[in-house]
Amino acid sequence: MFITEEKAFELTEKYGSPLYVYDEKILRTRCREMRELLPGRNLRVNFSAKANSSLELLKIVHEEGIDADAMSPGEIYVEMAAGFEPEHIFYIGNNVSVEEMRYAAERGITVSADSLSQLETFGKNFPHCKAAVRFNPGVGAGHSDKVVTGGKKTKFGVQLDFIPQVKEIVKKYDIDLVGIDQHIGSLFMNGEPYVEGVKSLLKIAEQFPGLKFIDMGGGFGVPYHDGEARLDLKKLSVMLDEVIAEFLEKYDNKDIIFKVEPGRYISAECGLLLGEVNSVKENYSHTYVGTDIGFNVLMRPVLYDSYHEVRILKRNGDDGSREVCTVVGNICESGDILAKDRTLPKACEGDLVAVETAGAYGYAMSSCYNCRLRPAEVLIAADGTDRLIRRRDTYEDIVRNFV
Ligand code: LLP
Repeated sequence: MFITEEKAFELTEKYGSPLYVYDEKILRTRCREMRELLPGRNLRVNFSAKANSSLELLKIVHEEGIDADAMSPGEIYVEMAAGFEPEHIFYIGNNVSVEEMRYAAERGITVSADSLSQLETFGKNFPHCKAAVRFNPGVGAGHSDKVVTGGKKTKFGVQLDFIPQVKEIVKKYDIDLVGIDQHIGSLFMNGEPYVEGVKSLLKIAEQFPGLKFIDMGGGFGVPYHDGEARLDLKKLSVMLDEVIAEFLEKYDNKDIIFKVEPGRYISAECGLLLGEVNSVKENYSHTYVGTDIGFNVLMRPVLYDSYHEVRILKRNGDDGSREVCTVVGNICESGDILAKDRTLPKACEGDLVAVETAGAYGYAMSSCYNCRLRPAEVLIAADGTDRLIRRRDTYEDIVRNFV
């Protein structure tokens, strides 16, 4: 935890619960680590804002000299509001409408087409415009089947056998093919599949002379368990550098830019989620610690069986007693489980629960299911001061769109 237990109580008293808390220093450190991934190479880091699109965090990422990728016009909108210039945004759409393509193209943002069908649609509607194509390198990686986006069992990317068709469409509409991209999946702790994917992407690049960039994708993992080793970025860097050096020997554009698209790596560890224990009960000899962190607040454990370290912060001090319990939320579904069978300090009503590594795909995937209010977000600035960066939903927010 990057704040003390005392601070956690202070923050929930000040801003309410549940509460997402972010640490500016950690965010900046992760940005810098990524920027230094390939020293001496022409590298640009795109933050994948789907992991966390909080305006203030995006502003910090932008200040760190990082670009952004977007999955939707909404992400483009918030990125531009945070100060990202169109040339520093990459729209990696998946099954998007012409209108969505237009939203990006009109602003001078490069669009990546995810299928022959989307490339054809792009070409028809925006001939002579710049675009990229997302390929599926045939390799995948990820912490759950739901987030493996490369390989034979996914909807993403253009299969390698369709390279001739890509060329045909590019020619037919005089598309300015500026780049190719891929993303093999989310959360690898061992860089080998990533490097395999890159090798395959670079082979594809050889067939497209004159590209301006090659986007190797995101997926860089972070440790979610106490004591788990970090992803070895140095080792990954060496492996990537070798592959890139070999490629550059053959490729015509020696100034080609290499991009990476980390989401989780940048924002996961700077985020902590605080909640309150509302009830503790015994049900058929099992202890349930009932909190206000339902899966509307943090969806990852329910959706992917994801593990987050969960701490119980004792309001009246820790007397050392421990018990096996299951930490649950307040949503009307039995799957609403935050942490199963954990040995934790014996919880009481009024204690706090702290969920670590919650800065990626936390708030971003939250919802108002059960007409619950989405939480507030607070930033601990580099000087140690805290400030509200997103207010909690209100009941008016729940009825706002009814006509
Ligand atoms: N690029 C593309 C095209 C992506 O689709 C993604 C993530 C990324 C980059 C960033 O991946 P990252 O570096 O964050 O692994 N909700 C899931 C993760 C979904 C990832 C979706 N795509 C989770 O909570 O684990």
